[in-house]
Amino acid sequence: MCGIVGYIGHRNAYDVIIKGLKRLEYRGYDSAGITLLNGSMNIYKKAGKVSDLENFAEGKDINGSVGMGHTRWATHGEPNDRNAHPHKSNNGKLSIIHNGIIENYATIKTELIKRGHVFHSDTDTEVLIHLIEEIQHKANVSLEEAVRLSLHEVVGAYAIVIISEDQQDELIVARKGSPMVIGIGEGEHFIASDATPIIEYTKNVVYLNDSEMAIVKKDSLVIKNIENVVQNPVIHELEMQLEMIEKNGYDHFMMKEIYEQPKSIYDSMRGRIRATEGLISLGGLKEYETKFKNAERIIIVACGTSWHAGLVAEYIIEEFARVPVEVEYASEFRYRNPIITENDIIIAISQSGETADTLAAIELAKSKGATIFGICNVVGSSIPRASHAGAYTHAGPEIGVASTKAFTAQVTILTLLAWSLAQIKGTLSRTRVVELLTALEAIPAKVEKALTSNEQIQKIAANFKDAPNFLYLGRGFNFPVALEGALKLKEISYIHAEGYPAAEMKHGPIALIDENMPVVVIATKGSILEKTISNIQEVKARKGIIIAIVTEGDTEVKKMADYVIEIPDTEEALVPLLATIPLQLLSYHIAIMRGCNVDQPRNLAKSVTVE
Ligand code: AGP
Repeated sequence: MCGIVGYIGHRNAYDVIIKGLKRLEYRGYDSAGITLLNGSMNIYKKAGKVSDLENFAEGKDINGSVGMGHTRWATHGEPNDRNAHPHKSNNGKLSIIHNGIIENYATIKTELIKRGHVFHSDTDTEVLIHLIEEIQHKANVSLEEAVRLSLHEVVGAYAIVIISEDQQDELIVARKGSPMVIGIGEGEHFIASDATPIIEYTKNVVYLNDSEMAIVKKDSLVIKNIENVVQNPVIHELEMQLEMIEKNGYDHFMMKEIYEQPKSIYDSMRGRIRATEGLISLGGLKEYETKFKNAERIIIVACGTSWHAGLVAEYIIEEFARVPVEVEYASEFRYRNPIITENDIIIAISQSGETADTLAAIELAKSKGATIFGICNVVGSSIPRASHAGAYTHAGPEIGVASTKAFTAQVTILTLLAWSLAQIKGTLSRTRVVELLTALEAIPAKVEKALTSNEQIQKIAANFKDAPNFLYLGRGFNFPVALEGALKLKEISYIHAEGYPAAEMKHGPIALIDENMPVVVIATKGSILEKTISNIQEVKARKGIIIAIVTEGDTEVKKMADYVIEIPDTEEALVPLLATIPLQLLSYHIAIMRGCNVDQPRNLAKSVTVE
């Protein structure tokens, strides 16, 4: 969950690194630091954001064309100056930055202290650089060899960059379980946690694989595995464009990404459907058509918002393809000794493609013979590379920590997968598929329409910016949307919010209802609207405040709701793609009115690459 950047070449390393760290700040922003080489090794680090580091480095020696930087999401050691990365070795000659967790750091630290090492932080990372120093000294080997040997000693996940004051023409990098991308330029190389700090300099990248390390010089790149076997790197060309990672006039990435949804939903289906012919083509699904056709059940593993997309998929796959679906929190699935057979299909959903729990769930299922289908947004990330097949959501880089366009893109892909599976299993006629795909094709324009309620929603938000709690209710396809709406609110405004199936409210949460409790209810046209209306009346009878999301033209819910937000009509199964839009906007405006940092909410990070 940290961001790392390294540079070696002809440019001013400080400029490249600071700009890169700002592009990675969404991955973690508790503290930031930088190491620069220009004859001497200079390290500057500070609690707070990258801008705080810039202020701290003001007027100091920031020259040099070799360096590395880190923006931290704290795992071991609270966010403060001394725990900020980079960390130094005992003799002060080596410096390291790290994304991940060294699980056996305590044991190693105890041993090193016995040998006279003095530590200055509470971090696991500092232990690793001291271990490398100890091994280099004891075995009298090169820095590269000392790094390789030390990686056989540690247990955990890492993406590391190491710099030595005595070898100023190289960076040593390695990864296992945390992402690392190497950008290849002319007489220069770039290292980063993902491609966003690299894209403005080069499109040619290498994705380092787990248990690989690299010796990076200005004009050479040697990749080995930690068994010391040289690897032949595969060079990929980035599809991402620079403007995709800029704010383009919006105040926040989150708002930009909310407004990108007409396009991102369109892009997620582009080239995959021919509505008038009732044709759906998901490459990965075709490859494993027999497996899907014979699957006795589908298990979906994911975390957070991606888990909510999985819950929407459960309703849609079971409704149309009639295949049993189980949706599992990846963090629970990986440890509860689940029953997995070779007939199981595992759908792993992840925006970042780096979520540690989801990756571990995949590895567990794969070890038991299941087929893994990954649905991810970041090309070349770990989860797609660990999957047998899959589909990219093509939503474009999602920088805001709160997931918005990735969610609707995931739901779009999952809907196509459900309908494609239904065609394979013969549970959907071509006529009906034509109807459904035609409705799906109309969704981008309907999202545009839903976005026109933004100003109305901003006014509604003003009434609730100080509410201590919120309840979100939905039924059927909209139950997962209620959960997602609640998560959006709590993660960016810090207001406690709970999502519930609307009928379940009577089994406890109704005790929370009083004149101070805002209740968001998704009450759109569909098979269970009448039941939802009964739930609204139960809330009203206890003086709860109703904020209703309704289908445009609704007259019934309007009579009982305190606030009404309309969304266009569509197929019942596609309502989640529209109902989530006002909930994203409501959360955004409430958070802004509360002075919260919507793009970098406290305690959070965009990609949870630790357990
Ligand atoms: C969503 O708004 C959150 N930022 C978080 O729940 C996120 O969805 C979760 O961490 C999963 O991330 P992933 O999709 O990258 O795997």
